[in-house]
Amino acid sequence: MSALSRLTPAIEPGTVWLVGAGPGDPGLLTVHAANALAQADVVVHDALIGEGVLALAREGAVLEYAGKRGGKPSAVQRDICERLIALARAGKRVVRLKGGDPFVFGRGGEEALALAQAGIRFRIVPGVSSGLAALAIHGVPATTRDTNHAVVLATGHAAEGAGGTDWAALARTGAPIVLYMAVSTLPSIAAGLIEGGLAATTPVLVVHAATSTREEIIEASLAELPALAQAGRIASPAIVAIGAIARVRAALAEHLLAYRQAASA
Ligand SMILES: C[S@@+](CC[C@H](N)C(=O)[O-])C[C@H]1O[C@@H](n2cnc3c(N)ncnc32)[C@H](O)[C@@H]1O
Repeated sequence: MSALSRLTPAIEPGTVWLVGAGPGDPGLLTVHAANALAQADVVVHDALIGEGVLALAREGAVLEYAGKRGGKPSAVQRDICERLIALARAGKRVVRLKGGDPFVFGRGGEEALALAQAGIRFRIVPGVSSGLAALAIHGVPATTRDTNHAVVLATGHAAEGAGGTDWAALARTGAPIVLYMAVSTLPSIAAGLIEGGLAATTPVLVVHAATSTREEIIEASLAELPALAQAGRIASPAIVAIGAIARVRAALAEHLLAYRQAASA
């Protein structure tokens, strides 16, 4: 047993670990996440998990894809929870592998509640959330003392309709905004932020497929975002950072080493 593998407890049969896989690069897995993959009987994973991460699963482990299908997210989410419960009741050592951090826009909270209600014991292994990783690797600090003392992490998924996010109110906080799942709603989000007083010239950094070999970066202003989105220039998955922090990158760029992963994700 290596010194690193001793850091993680054994997964007990009949329990579920909700594990964050980070943004894609296997090098950004936590030690606990890598050790959990090396132990699990079954790995139930989402769509955004890179092959490089899944390749770290124990030989003989069953890999089950649990992505959303057919535009029925709530029904499928219930199926996923039921599957986790069934696997645990069958005595399996289950890793539920979720992109980024399992408790940041990942429905990890819903799955933990379902497990608790079913009397299944579980553990949470935090992961590096894509919203912070995508910025950090490209020289954008989520906070600096000069620019901001708060940062907003928001989903664009709830942008439209009843119960949607009040973007104008978020703009008025003055805090930079880091958007997840916002590609299809960027035009209305940008309009709401400008309505709330955010300058049309506010800098924006978009990172598509952060830390993967397909990664793309776009620098723009808030006013340019809708046209970029409507022209199909911003593909999912993407993180969109809006605010003065996006400008810090320019000051670091000359000396910041390009992000490279050792193996493809
Ligand atoms: C269902 S949310 C899951 C977020 C995840 N729990 C996390 O902490 O990163 C999926 C969204 O996360 C973002 N995302 C996840 N991985 C990403 C990556 N490698 N690059 C850019 N965005 C990513 C995208 O906004 C995507 O639509």
